[in-house]
Amino acid sequence: MTAVATAPVLISPEQAGPHNVETVLWVKHWTPFLFSFAITRPASFRFRSGEFVMIGLPGLDGGKAILRAYSVASPSFADELEFFSIKVADGPLTSRLQKIQTGDQILLGKKPTGTLVLDALTPGKRLFLIGTGTGLAPWLAVARDPEAYAAYEQIIVCHGVRTVDELAYRDLFTRDIFDDPLVGDEARKQLVYYPSVTREAFERTGRITTLIENGQIFRDLGIEASQFDARYDRAMLCGSMAMIKDTAALLELHGLKEGSNAAPGDYVLERAFVG
Ligand code: A2P
Repeated sequence: MTAVATAPVLISPEQAGPHNVETVLWVKHWTPFLFSFAITRPASFRFRSGEFVMIGLPGLDGGKAILRAYSVASPSFADELEFFSIKVADGPLTSRLQKIQTGDQILLGKKPTGTLVLDALTPGKRLFLIGTGTGLAPWLAVARDPEAYAAYEQIIVCHGVRTVDELAYRDLFTRDIFDDPLVGDEARKQLVYYPSVTREAFERTGRITTLIENGQIFRDLGIEASQFDARYDRAMLCGSMAMIKDTAALLELHGLKEGSNAAPGDYVLERAFVG
C-alpha cells in the first residue's frame, strides 16, 4: 500500500503571535491515550533539564492560540525538544495535538521555567524521581543529564501507572539509556528504574505511596532503615494533584522540606499537565 502524502500543517506569522514556530521531527504513539513527539529547537531556546514550556496550536478559524505547559523530556543540551503527552478526546489542545505528523508546525513558548531542576535541591546521596502517568516526562530530561549522576550517588526513577502498556519509555530505562554516550556508564551503576502498575498484574503492583509506606521500595533498594532519611534523600514529584499531595506528606513526615529555585530544599514538586 502506498502512503498518501498529505501537505504539512504550516503556521503563518500572524497565527504564531509572540511564539516560536517549530517543526515536528517525529511522533510516537504508545497507546490510544499516550504519545510522544519531538520538535526542532530554536538556537535562542535555553532551558534547564526538568523545566516546562508552553506549547500549542493556533486557534481554529482565527481564534486565540491554545497553549499548555509541557515538561521538556529532553535534557538541556539536546538538539531537539521532546514531549510526552496524554490524548484527551475532547481536550481543547490534545484532541488536535494527537493528530500532528512529521513536518507539521506547532507553537513553542519563549520562556521555559519550573522547579523540577537539580538547582532547586540541596545536596544529598539518593535522588527519587517520582512520577505518575505523563509525570514521567521531566525525569526523561533529568535522568539523561550527566549533572544528575555527578550530584547523586543513586537516581531512582519511579513510574506509577494503571496498566502495563502505560509504562512508556520502559525500553529506554531498561536498555537504551545504558548505551547513551553521555550517561550510559553512570546509568549502569547509579540508575534504578522502578515501575509500578496499579490496575493489572505486573512484577510490581501498588501505588508509589503504598510502596513507600509499607517500606517495599526501601527494601528493594537495600536501604536498611526502610524509610526516607532527610540527611541523604532528595525527591522530585510530578503527576496528579492527589499523588503529589500524598507523597509530599510522606516526605514531610520524615523531615524533608520543600524547596524552590529561590530557596533550594529536600524535595520539589509540579503537577503534570492534565487536559
Ligand atoms: P490507582 O490506579 O490506584 O488510582 P492516573 O492515570 O489517574 O493519573 O493514575 C496514574 C497512577 O497514579 C495510577 O497508578 C494511580 O493509581 C496512581 N495514583 C493516583 N492517585 C494517587 C495517589 N494519591 N497517590 C499515589 N498514587 C496515585
